[in-house]
Amino acid sequence: MAGQRTLTIIKPDAFANGKAGLILALLERSGFSLKAARVLHLTTAQAGEFYAVHKGRGFYDELVEFMTSGPCMPIILERDEAVSTLRTVIGATDPAEAADGTVRKLYAESKGRNAIHASDSDENAVHEGAFFFAQCEVLPS
Ligand code: RTP
Ligand code: MG
Repeated sequence: MAGQRTLTIIKPDAFANGKAGLILALLERSGFSLKAARVLHLTTAQAGEFYAVHKGRGFYDELVEFMTSGPCMPIILERDEAVSTLRTVIGATDPAEAADGTVRKLYAESKGRNAIHASDSDENAVHEGAFFFAQCEVLPS
């Protein structure tokens, strides 16, 4: 799915606050179409593996605790320039620094509890998509 696809997660804060529908609407308005979606409650092992790149950093334990605090919603999205466009649409990691109209500006509480994840490269988009979805669960283009 390189180039055309990316992986997002509506994080537990936004899901619990009933913002999933609003965020999906914003993503669709931004030109993305949904190719796979599910709702699940991550285990500590799953969250730790997903964010393994951050292991050892000061916020890692807090991040794993947050990502396992309730259900979340992983989604594979498709459009041209998917990775870079979605990073723009979600906004800066810290909502205080996020641009107006971005998902994090609208719905995030703090740098830690920041409503949404997005893959940061085509390579990671492929890897993260496969983390959550079997091939048969993903729609073709
Ligand atoms: P994400 O991976 O979730 O899309 O977020 P990101 O690229 O914008 O930020 P990244 O540096 O990859 O950090 C991953 C997530 O860890 C939490 N975090 N907390 N309290 C802190 O200083 C801090 N720094 C990062 C956030 O939930 C961030 O999205
Ligand atoms: Mg990241």
